[in-house]
Amino acid sequence: MPEDTEAVVPAAPRAEATALLRWAVATLPAPSPETEARTLLAYVLGRSPAELIMVGTVGAADARRYAEVIAERAAGTPLHHLTGVAHFRHSTLRVGPGVFSPRPETEVMTGHVITELHRLIADGVTPVVADLCTGSGAIARAITDEVPGINLHACELSEDALSYAMDNLAGTGADLVQGDLADVFGELDGTVDVVVCNPPYIPLEAWESVAPDVRDHDPHLALFSGQDGLDAMRVLAVTAARLLRPGGLVAAEHAEVQHASAVEIFVAHGSWTAVADHLDLTGRPRFVTARRR
Ligand SMILES: C[S@@+](CC[C@H](N)C(=O)[O-])C[C@H]1O[C@@H](n2cnc3c(N)ncnc32)[C@H](O)[C@@H]1O
Repeated sequence: MPEDTEAVVPAAPRAEATALLRWAVATLPAPSPETEARTLLAYVLGRSPAELIMVGTVGAADARRYAEVIAERAAGTPLHHLTGVAHFRHSTLRVGPGVFSPRPETEVMTGHVITELHRLIADGVTPVVADLCTGSGAIARAITDEVPGINLHACELSEDALSYAMDNLAGTGADLVQGDLADVFGELDGTVDVVVCNPPYIPLEAWESVAPDVRDHDPHLALFSGQDGLDAMRVLAVTAARLLRPGGLVAAEHAEVQHASAVEIFVAHGSWTAVADHLDLTGRPRFVTARRR
Protein backbone atom coordinates (compact mmCIF):
# COMPACT_ATOMS: atom_id res chain seq x y z
CA MET A 1 0.00 0.00 0.00
CA PRO A 2 1.36 3.48 -0.96
CA GLU A 3 2.80 5.60 1.82
CA ASP A 4 0.21 8.39 1.63
CA THR A 5 -2.61 5.89 2.25
CA GLU A 6 -0.79 4.50 5.23
CA ALA A 7 -0.63 8.04 6.58
CA VAL A 8 -4.46 8.21 6.47
CA VAL A 9 -4.96 4.69 7.84
CA PRO A 10 -1.82 3.42 9.57
CA ALA A 11 -3.06 -0.15 10.02
CA ALA A 12 -3.95 -0.65 6.33
CA PRO A 13 -2.83 -4.13 5.21
CA ARG A 14 -1.49 -5.46 1.89
CA ALA A 15 -3.92 -5.23 -0.99
CA GLU A 16 -5.30 -8.76 -1.15
CA ALA A 17 -9.09 -8.36 -1.11
CA THR A 18 -9.52 -10.71 1.87
CA ALA A 19 -6.89 -8.84 3.90
CA LEU A 20 -8.45 -5.46 3.03
CA LEU A 21 -11.84 -6.76 4.15
CA ARG A 22 -10.46 -8.14 7.43
CA TRP A 23 -8.79 -4.81 8.16
CA ALA A 24 -11.94 -2.83 7.27
CA VAL A 25 -14.14 -5.02 9.50
CA ALA A 26 -11.81 -4.31 12.42
CA THR A 27 -11.87 -0.57 11.62
CA LEU A 28 -15.61 0.01 11.07
CA PRO A 29 -18.13 0.64 13.86
CA ALA A 30 -20.88 -1.75 14.99
CA PRO A 31 -23.47 -2.95 14.17
CA SER A 32 -22.71 -4.06 10.59
CA PRO A 33 -18.96 -3.88 9.88
CA GLU A 34 -18.90 -7.03 7.70
CA THR A 35 -21.74 -5.88 5.45
CA GLU A 36 -20.42 -2.34 5.21
CA ALA A 37 -16.84 -3.47 4.47
CA ARG A 38 -18.12 -5.60 1.59
CA THR A 39 -20.51 -2.92 0.32
CA LEU A 40 -17.77 -0.30 0.25
CA LEU A 41 -15.18 -2.56 -1.42
CA ALA A 42 -17.75 -3.48 -4.07
CA TYR A 43 -18.54 0.23 -4.52
CA VAL A 44 -14.87 1.17 -4.96
CA LEU A 45 -14.33 -1.67 -7.46
CA GLY A 46 -17.57 -0.93 -9.35
CA ARG A 47 -18.87 -4.43 -8.73
CA SER A 48 -21.71 -6.03 -6.77
CA PRO A 49 -20.94 -7.49 -3.31
CA ALA A 50 -21.65 -10.96 -4.72
CA GLU A 51 -18.85 -10.50 -7.28
CA LEU A 52 -16.20 -9.90 -4.58
CA ILE A 53 -15.60 -13.63 -4.40
CA MET A 54 -13.93 -13.35 -7.83
CA VAL A 55 -11.56 -10.56 -6.70
CA GLY A 56 -8.04 -11.65 -5.68
CA THR A 57 -5.69 -8.69 -5.49
CA VAL A 58 -6.86 -5.08 -5.40
CA GLY A 59 -4.82 -2.52 -7.36
CA ALA A 60 -2.95 0.23 -5.50
CA ALA A 61 -5.27 3.08 -6.54
CA ASP A 62 -8.40 1.14 -5.56
CA ALA A 63 -6.83 0.02 -2.27
CA ARG A 64 -5.96 3.63 -1.46
CA ARG A 65 -9.49 4.78 -2.35
CA TYR A 66 -10.90 1.96 -0.20
CA ALA A 67 -8.77 3.06 2.75
CA GLU A 68 -10.10 6.60 2.31
CA VAL A 69 -13.79 5.62 2.26
CA ILE A 70 -13.31 3.28 5.23
CA ALA A 71 -11.72 6.16 7.15
CA GLU A 72 -14.64 8.45 6.19
CA ARG A 73 -17.17 5.84 7.29
CA ALA A 74 -15.30 5.25 10.56
CA ALA A 75 -15.44 9.02 11.14
CA GLY A 76 -19.25 8.98 10.86
CA THR A 77 -20.12 9.69 7.21
CA PRO A 78 -23.24 7.60 6.46
CA LEU A 79 -22.67 4.58 4.23
CA HIS A 80 -25.31 5.82 1.80
CA HIS A 81 -23.58 9.17 1.40
CA LEU A 82 -20.38 7.40 0.41
CA THR A 83 -21.98 5.11 -2.15
CA GLY A 84 -24.78 7.50 -3.22
CA VAL A 85 -27.13 4.53 -3.30
CA ALA A 86 -29.67 3.02 -0.91
CA HIS A 87 -31.66 -0.16 -1.23
CA PHE A 88 -35.27 -0.15 -0.05
CA ARG A 89 -37.31 -3.36 -0.37
CA HIS A 90 -36.70 -4.37 -4.04
CA SER A 91 -35.84 -0.86 -5.23
CA THR A 92 -32.54 1.01 -5.62
CA LEU A 93 -32.50 4.74 -4.90
CA ARG A 94 -30.14 7.66 -5.39
CA VAL A 95 -29.44 9.31 -2.04
CA GLY A 96 -26.89 11.72 -0.59
CA PRO A 97 -26.51 14.97 1.32
CA GLY A 98 -29.81 16.86 1.60
CA VAL A 99 -32.13 13.87 1.65
CA PHE A 100 -33.20 11.41 4.37
CA SER A 101 -31.73 7.95 3.79
CA PRO A 102 -34.55 5.36 3.86
CA ARG A 103 -34.52 3.01 6.85
CA PRO A 104 -35.38 -0.70 7.07
CA GLU A 105 -38.21 -0.12 9.59
CA THR A 106 -40.13 1.80 6.90
CA GLU A 107 -40.08 -1.30 4.68
CA VAL A 108 -42.58 -3.08 6.92
CA MET A 109 -45.13 -0.25 6.79
CA THR A 110 -44.65 -0.08 3.02
CA GLY A 111 -45.31 -3.82 2.81
CA HIS A 112 -48.55 -3.33 4.77
CA VAL A 113 -49.67 -0.71 2.24
CA ILE A 114 -48.67 -2.91 -0.70
CA THR A 115 -50.79 -5.75 0.69
CA GLU A 116 -53.77 -3.37 0.88
CA LEU A 117 -53.16 -2.27 -2.74
CA HIS A 118 -53.05 -5.87 -3.98
CA ARG A 119 -56.33 -6.47 -2.14
CA LEU A 120 -57.96 -3.45 -3.82
CA ILE A 121 -56.71 -4.51 -7.24
CA ALA A 122 -58.12 -8.02 -6.68
CA ASP A 123 -61.47 -6.27 -6.02
CA GLY A 124 -61.25 -4.53 -9.42
CA VAL A 125 -60.15 -1.11 -8.11
CA THR A 126 -57.34 0.93 -9.72
CA PRO A 127 -56.02 2.43 -6.49
CA VAL A 128 -55.17 6.08 -5.97
CA VAL A 129 -52.26 6.46 -3.52
CA ALA A 130 -50.71 9.52 -1.87
CA ASP A 131 -47.21 9.33 -0.35
CA LEU A 132 -46.85 12.45 1.78
CA CYS A 133 -43.34 13.54 2.88
CA THR A 134 -41.79 11.36 0.16
CA GLY A 135 -38.13 12.38 0.76
CA SER A 136 -36.02 10.33 -1.67
CA GLY A 137 -39.26 8.83 -2.99
CA ALA A 138 -38.44 5.51 -1.31
CA ILE A 139 -41.98 4.47 -0.37
CA ALA A 140 -43.46 5.74 -3.63
CA ARG A 141 -40.79 3.99 -5.70
CA ALA A 142 -41.25 0.68 -3.88
CA ILE A 143 -45.01 0.89 -4.40
CA THR A 144 -44.72 1.65 -8.12
CA ASP A 145 -42.14 -1.15 -8.54
CA GLU A 146 -44.22 -3.72 -6.68
CA VAL A 147 -47.75 -2.65 -7.67
CA PRO A 148 -47.71 -1.50 -11.30
CA GLY A 149 -50.69 0.29 -12.78
CA ILE A 150 -51.70 2.36 -9.78
CA ASN A 151 -52.26 6.09 -9.68
CA LEU A 152 -49.60 7.49 -7.33
CA HIS A 153 -49.13 11.04 -6.07
CA ALA A 154 -46.17 12.09 -3.92
CA CYS A 155 -45.27 15.35 -2.21
CA GLU A 156 -42.16 16.73 -0.54
CA LEU A 157 -41.49 20.14 0.98
CA SER A 158 -37.69 20.29 0.68
CA GLU A 159 -36.28 21.36 -2.67
CA ASP A 160 -33.06 19.41 -2.00
CA ALA A 161 -34.94 16.19 -1.27
CA LEU A 162 -37.24 16.76 -4.23
CA SER A 163 -34.35 16.58 -6.69
CA TYR A 164 -33.52 13.06 -5.46
CA ALA A 165 -37.21 12.05 -5.62
CA MET A 166 -37.41 13.34 -9.20
CA ASP A 167 -34.56 11.01 -10.21
CA ASN A 168 -35.88 8.07 -8.21
CA LEU A 169 -39.43 8.36 -9.55
CA ALA A 170 -38.47 9.14 -13.16
CA GLY A 171 -40.29 6.83 -15.53
CA THR A 172 -42.69 5.50 -12.89
CA GLY A 173 -45.61 7.74 -13.92
CA ALA A 174 -45.86 9.12 -10.37
CA ASP A 175 -47.19 12.65 -9.95
CA LEU A 176 -44.48 14.33 -7.81
CA VAL A 177 -45.00 17.85 -6.46
CA GLN A 178 -43.20 20.19 -4.12
CA GLY A 179 -45.77 20.89 -1.45
CA ASP A 180 -46.69 20.99 2.20
CA LEU A 181 -48.37 18.05 3.84
CA ALA A 182 -50.86 20.54 5.32
CA ASP A 183 -52.54 21.65 2.09
CA VAL A 184 -51.28 19.50 -0.76
CA PHE A 185 -53.39 17.70 -3.41
CA GLY A 186 -56.66 19.60 -2.86
CA GLU A 187 -57.84 18.30 -6.25
CA LEU A 188 -57.78 14.74 -4.86
CA ASP A 189 -60.03 15.40 -1.84
CA GLY A 190 -62.25 12.41 -1.06
CA THR A 191 -60.84 10.26 -3.89
CA VAL A 192 -57.69 8.64 -2.47
CA ASP A 193 -57.68 4.95 -1.47
CA VAL A 194 -54.44 4.89 0.54
CA VAL A 195 -52.38 7.62 2.21
CA VAL A 196 -48.92 6.61 3.41
CA CYS A 197 -46.51 8.85 5.30
CA ASN A 198 -43.20 8.62 7.09
CA PRO A 199 -43.24 12.09 8.65
CA PRO A 200 -40.54 13.74 10.74
CA TYR A 201 -41.25 12.59 14.31
CA ILE A 202 -38.32 13.23 16.63
CA PRO A 203 -39.17 15.56 19.54
CA LEU A 204 -37.15 18.78 19.51
CA GLU A 205 -36.48 18.14 23.19
CA ALA A 206 -34.71 14.87 22.23
CA TRP A 207 -32.08 16.71 20.18
CA GLU A 208 -29.25 15.75 22.54
CA SER A 209 -30.11 12.06 22.46
CA VAL A 210 -30.13 11.75 18.64
CA ALA A 211 -27.04 9.90 17.39
CA PRO A 212 -24.50 12.41 16.03
CA ASP A 213 -24.23 10.65 12.64
CA VAL A 214 -28.02 11.06 12.20
CA ARG A 215 -28.10 14.62 13.56
CA ASP A 216 -25.13 15.71 11.46
CA HIS A 217 -26.10 14.10 8.15
CA ASP A 218 -29.90 13.71 7.82
CA PRO A 219 -31.75 17.00 7.08
CA HIS A 220 -33.35 18.43 10.21
CA LEU A 221 -36.63 18.99 8.32
CA ALA A 222 -36.77 15.20 7.95
CA LEU A 223 -36.16 14.53 11.64
CA PHE A 224 -37.75 17.01 14.02
CA SER A 225 -41.41 17.91 14.41
CA GLY A 226 -42.26 20.12 17.39
CA GLN A 227 -41.65 19.64 21.09
CA ASP A 228 -43.25 16.18 21.29
CA GLY A 229 -42.33 15.11 17.73
CA LEU A 230 -45.97 14.77 16.72
CA ASP A 231 -46.74 18.09 15.00
CA ALA A 232 -46.57 16.50 11.52
CA MET A 233 -48.66 13.51 12.71
CA ARG A 234 -51.41 15.86 13.88
CA VAL A 235 -51.40 17.58 10.47
CA LEU A 236 -51.42 14.19 8.74
CA ALA A 237 -54.56 13.09 10.62
CA VAL A 238 -56.37 16.12 9.17
CA THR A 239 -54.93 15.93 5.63
CA ALA A 240 -55.49 12.18 5.29
CA ALA A 241 -59.11 12.60 6.45
CA ARG A 242 -59.55 15.21 3.70
CA LEU A 243 -57.91 13.11 0.95
CA LEU A 244 -59.32 9.65 1.63
CA ARG A 245 -62.62 8.26 0.44
CA PRO A 246 -64.76 6.55 3.13
CA GLY A 247 -63.06 3.27 4.04
CA GLY A 248 -59.68 4.49 2.73
CA LEU A 249 -56.52 3.53 4.64
CA VAL A 250 -53.87 5.76 6.22
CA ALA A 251 -50.53 4.35 7.39
CA ALA A 252 -47.98 6.48 9.26
CA GLU A 253 -44.63 5.68 10.85
CA HIS A 254 -43.82 6.89 14.37
CA ALA A 255 -41.11 6.49 17.00
CA GLU A 256 -41.27 3.46 19.26
CA VAL A 257 -42.18 5.58 22.28
CA GLN A 258 -45.07 7.24 20.39
CA HIS A 259 -47.16 4.05 20.01
CA ALA A 260 -49.87 5.34 22.38
CA SER A 261 -49.68 9.05 21.51
CA ALA A 262 -49.75 8.48 17.73
CA VAL A 263 -52.80 6.21 18.05
CA GLU A 264 -54.47 8.79 20.30
CA ILE A 265 -54.14 11.49 17.61
CA PHE A 266 -56.23 9.43 15.19
CA VAL A 267 -58.72 8.30 17.85
CA ALA A 268 -59.22 11.88 19.07
CA HIS A 269 -59.70 13.31 15.56
CA GLY A 270 -63.09 11.64 15.14
CA SER A 271 -62.82 10.83 11.40
CA TRP A 272 -61.16 7.48 11.94
CA THR A 273 -62.13 3.92 12.73
CA ALA A 274 -60.09 0.70 13.16
CA VAL A 275 -57.14 2.64 14.57
CA ALA A 276 -54.35 0.11 15.15
CA ASP A 277 -50.66 0.11 15.89
CA HIS A 278 -48.16 -2.29 14.28
CA LEU A 279 -44.73 -3.77 15.02
CA ASP A 280 -41.61 -3.70 12.85
CA LEU A 281 -39.49 -6.79 12.17
CA THR A 282 -37.71 -6.40 15.50
CA GLY A 283 -41.01 -6.42 17.39
CA ARG A 284 -41.06 -2.69 18.18
CA PRO A 285 -44.28 -0.63 17.67
CA ARG A 286 -43.50 1.55 14.63
CA PHE A 287 -46.59 2.48 12.61
CA VAL A 288 -50.22 3.33 13.02
CA THR A 289 -53.04 2.59 10.56
CA ALA A 290 -56.64 3.80 10.50
CA ARG A 291 -59.64 3.78 8.16
CA ARG A 292 -61.64 6.83 7.12
CA ARG A 293 -65.16 6.62 8.54
C1 LIG B 1 -38.51 10.95 7.83
S1 LIG B 1 -38.33 11.64 6.23
C2 LIG B 1 -39.11 10.37 5.27
C3 LIG B 1 -38.69 10.33 3.83
C4 LIG B 1 -39.19 9.10 3.05
N1 LIG B 1 -40.63 9.04 2.99
C5 LIG B 1 -38.65 7.82 3.68
O1 LIG B 1 -39.43 7.10 4.31
O2 LIG B 1 -37.45 7.54 3.54
C6 LIG B 1 -39.56 12.92 6.27
C7 LIG B 1 -39.64 13.79 5.01
O3 LIG B 1 -40.70 14.74 5.18
C8 LIG B 1 -40.32 15.98 4.61
N2 LIG B 1 -41.18 17.00 5.22
C9 LIG B 1 -41.05 17.59 6.43
N3 LIG B 1 -42.07 18.43 6.67
C10 LIG B 1 -42.88 18.37 5.57
C11 LIG B 1 -44.10 19.01 5.23
N4 LIG B 1 -44.70 19.87 6.04
N5 LIG B 1 -44.67 18.70 4.03
C12 LIG B 1 -44.06 17.82 3.19
N6 LIG B 1 -42.90 17.19 3.46
C13 LIG B 1 -42.31 17.46 4.65
C14 LIG B 1 -38.85 16.08 4.92
O4 LIG B 1 -38.20 16.99 4.08
C15 LIG B 1 -38.40 14.62 4.71
O5 LIG B 1 -38.00 14.41 3.38
